[in-house]
Amino acid sequence: MRKIAVINQKGGSGKTTTVVNVGAYLSKFGKKVLLIDLDPQAHTTIHLGFEPPNIGNSVYEILLNETEIENAILPTKLKNLFLLPSKLELASAEIELVNEVGREIILRESLKKCQKKFDYIIIDCPPSLGLLTLNALTTVKEIFIPIQAEFFALEGLTKLLQTINIVKERLNPELKITGVIITMFDKRKNICREVAQKVKEYFKDKVFKTKIRENVRLAEAPSFGKTIDEFSSKSHGAEDYFKLTKEILKQEKRK
Ligand SMILES: Nc1ncnc2c1ncn2[C@@H]1O[C@H](COP(=O)(O)OP(=O)(O)OP(=O)(O)O)[C@@H](O)[C@H]1O
Ligand SMILES: [Mg+2]
Repeated sequence: MRKIAVINQKGGSGKTTTVVNVGAYLSKFGKKVLLIDLDPQAHTTIHLGFEPPNIGNSVYEILLNETEIENAILPTKLKNLFLLPSKLELASAEIELVNEVGREIILRESLKKCQKKFDYIIIDCPPSLGLLTLNALTTVKEIFIPIQAEFFALEGLTKLLQTINIVKERLNPELKITGVIITMFDKRKNICREVAQKVKEYFKDKVFKTKIRENVRLAEAPSFGKTIDEFSSKSHGAEDYFKLTKEILKQEKRK
């Protein structure tokens, strides 16, 4: 079983798009996948066709210890793909939990009861390094960092790497970056090639060979509540996420 957090505190770097579409292709390959939406914006939840106001139990109730995780996990319309949804209330969880002992490991502890049922658990993190992201970092062994190929992309990466190291030292010694994904890549733009080059120099073989190209179909799919495979299976976006998923599956052999 692999547990992966998709993290970058920089907003709009392609986290949610990656979580939803990699999750969908993994499930198509027969893997049993649980996606966890740890972002109060609930974009993963919406992208999978759910409406947050109609969600009953969510990751919020889990963090506040109001229900068991089995009562919050939803099947999606795709076989093998499950979702622990989010809703707006999650935004106040950090404040509500401020006096809770062990608040940074609540998700990890509650997952213990059901995680064996899944081959992959993938967490979509919010664009911040607060308590929600901390819960993701204590739960997983692996981190994927999506990086948008644009001018400000590398800003903030130092802070992200520092945070990961602190969590590794103090709370989760097994934590490791196992994948860096270049997103919204346009090979005609110099800046895209430069950023991709710098990322490669720094993260070396951790960078996936597949770059996710800029593709308007990827940007359109969420509003239809569809994955790229359902929405436009012949698009560049579908092709890229399919290839990326195959690379992710290949990593299983490394272990
Ligand atoms: N390869 C791509 N080509 C074109 N548009 C994309 C691509 N990937 C993502 N997008 C669009 O860019 C926006 C940001 O992507 P996404 O929501 O995946 O980022 P995020 O890191 O999850 O953002 P946030 O930090 O707000 O959670 C979305 O509107 C998405 O549909
Ligand atoms: Mg997101």
